[in-house]
Amino acid sequence: MSVELKDSETLKNLMRAFAGESQARNRYTFAAGVCRQQGLQVLEAVFLFTAGQEKEHAEIFYNHMKEAAGGTVHIDGGYPVDLTRDAAQLLRRAQHNELEEADTVYPAFAATAREEGFAAVAASFEKIAAIEAAHGGRFDRYAQLLEAGELFVSQARCGWMCLNCGHIYEGLQVPEACPVCHHGQGFFIRLEMAPWGGVSLGK
Ligand SMILES: [Fe+2]
Ligand SMILES: [Fe+2]
Repeated sequence: MSVELKDSETLKNLMRAFAGESQARNRYTFAAGVCRQQGLQVLEAVFLFTAGQEKEHAEIFYNHMKEAAGGTVHIDGGYPVDLTRDAAQLLRRAQHNELEEADTVYPAFAATAREEGFAAVAASFEKIAAIEAAHGGRFDRYAQLLEAGELFVSQARCGWMCLNCGHIYEGLQVPEACPVCHHGQGFFIRLEMAPWGGVSLGK
C-alpha cells in the first residue's frame, strides 16, 4: 500500500510524536528545575541532557512533515501529567513514558509508516524507539540509586566527580560540599557515570 503523506495515518503519527517529544522536553526541563531546587544538581543534569535529545527527536519528526508545510494537522492523543515534586517519582514517571514510547508507541508508528510506504519515517521511529529505551534505562538507574539512598553514598569505596569544578573525590560518601569549589553534594556524580569519561582515580 502506498499513500500520499497528506492522506496518511503516518502524518498524524508524526504530529503525535512531535507533540510527545516537545512535551517530554518541557516536562524534563521542569523536572530539572525541581531537582535543582532540592539540591540534586546531578539529576538536574540528567533531565536537561535528556531534554536536549527530545528536542532533536522533535525536529527529526517535524522535518518528515515537509510535504504538509503550510497546512495544519489535526490529531487526538493522550499525554501524561507528571506533576510532582518527588524526584524519585519524576524519574520513575519519565522511565515509564520512555519505555511506553520504546516498546509500544513508536514500534506501532513504524509499522504503519512501513505499510503506507514511508520507509525513511519508519526507520526514524525505530531508531528513536531504541534511544528512548536507553533513556528509560538511564532514568531507572538514577531512580534506583535515589530510592536506595545511594546517590551520594556507596557500599564500596569509589570515585565521584563534582560536576561544577571537576574535582574527583574518593570515598564511601561524598562530602556535604565540594572541598574545592564549595558547591553542594548534589553536584557529585559517580565517576563511572560521569560525562565524557577519560578520568580515573589517581593512584
Ligand atoms: Fe524522544
Ligand atoms: Fe526519550
